[in-house]
Amino acid sequence: MSPSANPTTTECDLKITDLTVEYTSGDYAVRPLDRFNAHVHSGELVLLLGASGCGKTTLLSALAAILTPTSGSIRLGDLEVVGLRRSALTHYRRQTVGVVFQAFNLVPSLNAVENVMLPMRAAGVASRAARARSTELLEQVGLGERLSHKPGTMSGGQQQRVAIARALVHEPMLVLADEPTAHLDYIQVDGVIRLLRDLAQPGRIVVVATHDDRMVPLADKVIELSAHAAPESGPPESVTVAAGRELFRQGDPGDRVYVVDGGEIELVQMLADGHEDLLAVAKPGDYFGELAPLFGLRRSATARARCDSTVTTYAIRDFRAIVHPGSVADLITRAADAQSDGNG
Ligand SMILES: Nc1ncnc2c1ncn2[C@@H]1O[C@H](COP(=O)(O)OP(=O)(O)OP(=O)(O)O)[C@@H](O)[C@H]1O
Ligand SMILES: [Mg+2]
Repeated sequence: MSPSANPTTTECDLKITDLTVEYTSGDYAVRPLDRFNAHVHSGELVLLLGASGCGKTTLLSALAAILTPTSGSIRLGDLEVVGLRRSALTHYRRQTVGVVFQAFNLVPSLNAVENVMLPMRAAGVASRAARARSTELLEQVGLGERLSHKPGTMSGGQQQRVAIARALVHEPMLVLADEPTAHLDYIQVDGVIRLLRDLAQPGRIVVVATHDDRMVPLADKVIELSAHAAPESGPPESVTVAAGRELFRQGDPGDRVYVVDGGEIELVQMLADGHEDLLAVAKPGDYFGELAPLFGLRRSATARARCDSTVTTYAIRDFRAIVHPGSVADLITRAADAQSDGNG
């Protein structure tokens, strides 16, 4: 099949293999997705859950082919999405994927029908046909009574449903929604959640990034993008590290906190140009690495022994018990500072 063809088989599984996205932010590199893998079956509703900054929007952007990953593969049915070019890329973005943004992105001066017509008009569909299709879609999302309402006269939930109708214009195989319920109250959320659930049918996959755990029971699959792994388990452990060896690397998931017993551990940030920035040196009695397990973040720096060293590693719960009183508030303050300068 040619790369520009829209696969017509109903078996349009989504296979994501070793997907890595690296951004350069200022002068250091951020890697929200690091060899990420997932397999979603046709007809499934998938939730992407995870703390702010864990890479949900990044993954949706890669799936929408708005962002080119650093490496890895995204296959939808027979189509390799990474590396699509020119007309094949345009076709994919316009016809194969439907994207629903958090902020609706409706045009305030246009009514519901006209908003849904917009992408069809842009694709050259005649006005009459576009209006008919738009009306049909708005009826499908339960807005048959609101066709000529402008966004300003509709509730958040209704506006979100207009945005969903607009994303369905080309019967996309992949529907991507980024925090679709974030601006809605609990009554409005209900309609939007049901609608997204109903959209996931054979031949179509719906991927929703959300903080809204009310959607969890409805999902066929939940992908937890946060970096924490079994954060509360395991007894304290003494570890010896030879000079030059790493305890953890920037970008790794992290579930342990470290206290230095002997030697020196340096915390370095890997810069985009391949150089390193020395952030801190932890000496006996100092602790480090608490931010990743506390906040479900990836390690924001690499920890490496400067000389032969000994550390004790703690699960976060045990660590809370040994640090001085009031220190959790202290940690949260440090977390706010360190999100930018990194010592997690
Ligand atoms: N264009 C960019 N340039 C540099 N860094 C970026 C860019 N976009 C995102 N990032 C970084 O990549 C990481 C993942 O961001 P992303 O927006 O995917 O997170 P998210 O899970 O959608 O968060 P939220 O729940 O807050 O929407 C963050 O650390 C973010 O700062
Ligand atoms: Mg996001």
